[in-house]
This record gives sequence, C-alpha cells and structure tokens, in this order.
Amino acid sequence: MKIQAPKGMRDFYPEDWRLQTWLFNHWRAVSQAAGFCEFEGPIFEDLALYETKSGEGIVSELFHFEDRGGRHFANRPQMTPTLARMVAARANALPRPIKWFSIPRMCRAEKPQRGRLREFFQWNVDILGIDEVLADAEVISVAVSLLRRLGLTSQDVVVKLSSRALATAVLQSVGITPDTAATAFQLIDRAEKLEPQAFQQQWDAQFGAQVAAPAVMDLLATATLERCLKIAAESGPDGRGVATQFEELWTALQAFEADDFCEFDLRTVRGLAYYTGPVFEVRTRSAGLRALFGGGRYDNLTELLGGPRVTGVGFGAGDVPMLECLREFGKLPTLTEQLEVFVIDASHGLFPKVQEVTSRLRAADVAADFSYKRQALGKQLKQAAGRPARLAVIVGDEFATSGTVAVKDLATGEQRNVPWSAICDDARTALGLR
Ligand code: HAM
Repeated sequence: MKIQAPKGMRDFYPEDWRLQTWLFNHWRAVSQAAGFCEFEGPIFEDLALYETKSGEGIVSELFHFEDRGGRHFANRPQMTPTLARMVAARANALPRPIKWFSIPRMCRAEKPQRGRLREFFQWNVDILGIDEVLADAEVISVAVSLLRRLGLTSQDVVVKLSSRALATAVLQSVGITPDTAATAFQLIDRAEKLEPQAFQQQWDAQFGAQVAAPAVMDLLATATLERCLKIAAESGPDGRGVATQFEELWTALQAFEADDFCEFDLRTVRGLAYYTGPVFEVRTRSAGLRALFGGGRYDNLTELLGGPRVTGVGFGAGDVPMLECLREFGKLPTLTEQLEVFVIDASHGLFPKVQEVTSRLRAADVAADFSYKRQALGKQLKQAAGRPARLAVIVGDEFATSGTVAVKDLATGEQRNVPWSAICDDARTALGLR
C-alpha cells in the first residue's frame, strides 16, 4: 500500500525547509526589531475556544476530534483565541503593552487552492492592553517592514485598510441595522470566494430584496474615505468618535512611514466575528492571490472567553501565500546548505586525522563534514564543491611534520597553510570565517 501525505498537507524536504526557515528568520527579525516577544501555545485546544466568536467560516473548517474521555478538541486553525486565553489568564500580572509574536503551525479543513492549504504556518503579531490607534498603526507598520525587507514595493502589494465601525455606519445608510451588520460583514468577506449567483442567494436569504446586494457592493467599492467619515460623523457622537479615530490612525501610519503601502477600502471587512474596529488585509496588486495578511482590532475577545477586558490588535500572515507572492515577483532567494568546511585527507592513512580535525571544528561551532568514501583528493574536492562548502581543509603529511593543514577557498581556488594550533585556539578566526 502506497501512502502519501494527506491532500493539502506538505512534506518539507531539506531544500523546502531551508526556504521556510529563511522566511521564519525574516518574520522573527522584523518582530524582534519592533520589540515583540515570541510565545507558543498548544497545537490543539478545547473545541469551545474556537466556537466562541470566531465566526461560522472558521468553525466549519475545523479538524476536530473526541478523546477517549469524550472531550472535544480541535487542531488550532488560528492563534488569536489561544493568545486571548493566555493573556486573560495572567491579565493582571502582564506589564502593558503586551507585544507578542508567534509562528504557529495551523490546520484548516478548507479546499486546497493557490495560496491556501489545509496545513500552514502563520506569523502572528499582536499588541494587547493598548486602546489607542497607535497600536493599530504599529502592527501595520510591522507588516509593512516585512514587505519592504523582502523587496516588495507599494506597486506590488497594498494594505487594504478599513474599519468595521465606519462600515457599520455606511451600511446603516442603506438600511442594514447595526445588529445585522456582523452577518453582512461575513457575507461581504465571502463575496470573492462565492459565485455571484450563490452570493446573491445568500444575501437575499438574509436581507431580502429591499437591500439589493449589487447596490451595497457598489457603494462599498466606491465610497471614498471622506464620504464615509462624513456619514459616520453625522450618525451621532459614537460615529464622530469613530471618524476621529480613523483619521488618527492615518496620521500615525504617516509618522511610521507606512502610509504609502496603505489604501482605504471599505470592502475589507474581514470574516472573523471578533473584530471590533479597524481591519486590514495585505493583497497583491495583481489579481489571483488571496490575502497575504489579515488582521484588525478585537477589543472584547478576552472578556468573551470569560476573562477581564484586555483590548487587542494584530494580524496573521500565512507562509503559503507569502511564498507564492515572492515567487511571482521573482524575490525568492536561491538557498544552499550552510556547510562551512569539508575536511579532506590527502592520503588514505590520514583519515583518523580527518575525524579529529572535523570533531574539533564542530566543537568550535564550525559547520564541518567529511566524505564517507575513501577516495582521491580531487574527488573529495569535487564532493566539497558540490555541497557546496565554503572551504576545504586538507590534511596531508605536513600535519605531522610542520603541524599545518592546507585551507582552500572553494569559490576563489586560493589556498594557504594554516597552523593547526591556531585553529585549535580560535577556529573561526584562523580559517577567516565570520
Ligand atoms: P485569517 O484572515 O483567517 O485571520 O488568516 C490570516 C492569514 O493567514 C491569511 O491572510 C493567510 O495569509 C493565512 N491563511 C489563512 N488560511 C490559510 C490557509 N488555509 N492556507 C495558508 N494560509 C492561510 C486570522 O487567522 C486571525 N487570527 C489573524 C489575527 C491575528 N487577527 C488578529 N491577530
């Protein structure tokens, strides 16, 4: 019986994992540069954690199971509920702001397609305990830093930015009441995934013919920021507050020099049910790829999970659409093994010395390897170049006579003799490795 990886799941061979690690390193570097601390959580959680305010979409995509004790669990489809649970459990002890990031592996039982699989890694960056939109602007600026760092420009990608509160005010102007706005957001968010006919049917089932779906979608697509701010401001004191906050968000984005990547788009409402304020997605300007990042403000989640109120804002970004996007824009690096030294014997009898030299180098944190086949010097050099290693350290008769080894730079072909004692003292310096 031939068994393959399940559909939508991935095998990572070393060359694939090298690329993953490269991306994770960028995610980590950008997060740490902005003062975020890394955290982790369980790979499965109580099913109820995801049924609370995540929204139908994500609940229908859960991989869930029952253990022998009849308890119901689900593999994590996202990190935000875990984060909120962990923060709520220590809410009083954690100093503010709580700036945490994570790179968890997720499972969602969705249909595998371009940029979406059933198993993926998702970079999460969140700030909790800060009500001001400065935190919203900071997480967006972290997203923009990553995009810039990977060589993407504002011509390639865009941060589509909106606010659920603004969208609620605008939808109210066409007859959608605030209590049904959440249902409208879920439908609007699904619009691009559904056939127009299916969208129309679901919309009509919810809102009837008096609020025509095309008119609403058209309004959302054409409503300028000025117009939305005006509608919100005229809707009452709460609406005025929403409009002022959204303006402050833009000002803060300008100060972080992230605004050139950002565009107002009222159609960005996000599918998850827990968002309460500004929401955003990163998309490629060319069509065809689903969102690269999705995030927003969620001020009630810790309370919904039974804890004290700790407001939050953040985003998640998947590895799958990010790597697809970088491939499309020709920004993927060519990565090879990071082998620094290949140790070679100039004649067969010297092999025990090769093992000694290799062990010493490894102990000094130099990535070193040797050939399993006892073969001629030229063949071993060829093997070294094929890995590729940066240097070949050749152990010859001089090792015993003058206490030196030959060090060959495999890129330039330059060769020099280095005292073995110098390598034993400080291998990296003696070999000219960083
Ligand atoms: P989300 O929109 O469900 O939000 O996912 C965020 C990102 O995760 C997407 O934009 C995409 O890059 C990636 N992603 C989602 N599903 C898949 C999939 N099946 N395959 C590959 N990548 C995928 C959330 O998960 C929120 N919890 C994000 C958040 C954090 N909001 C606040 N903090």
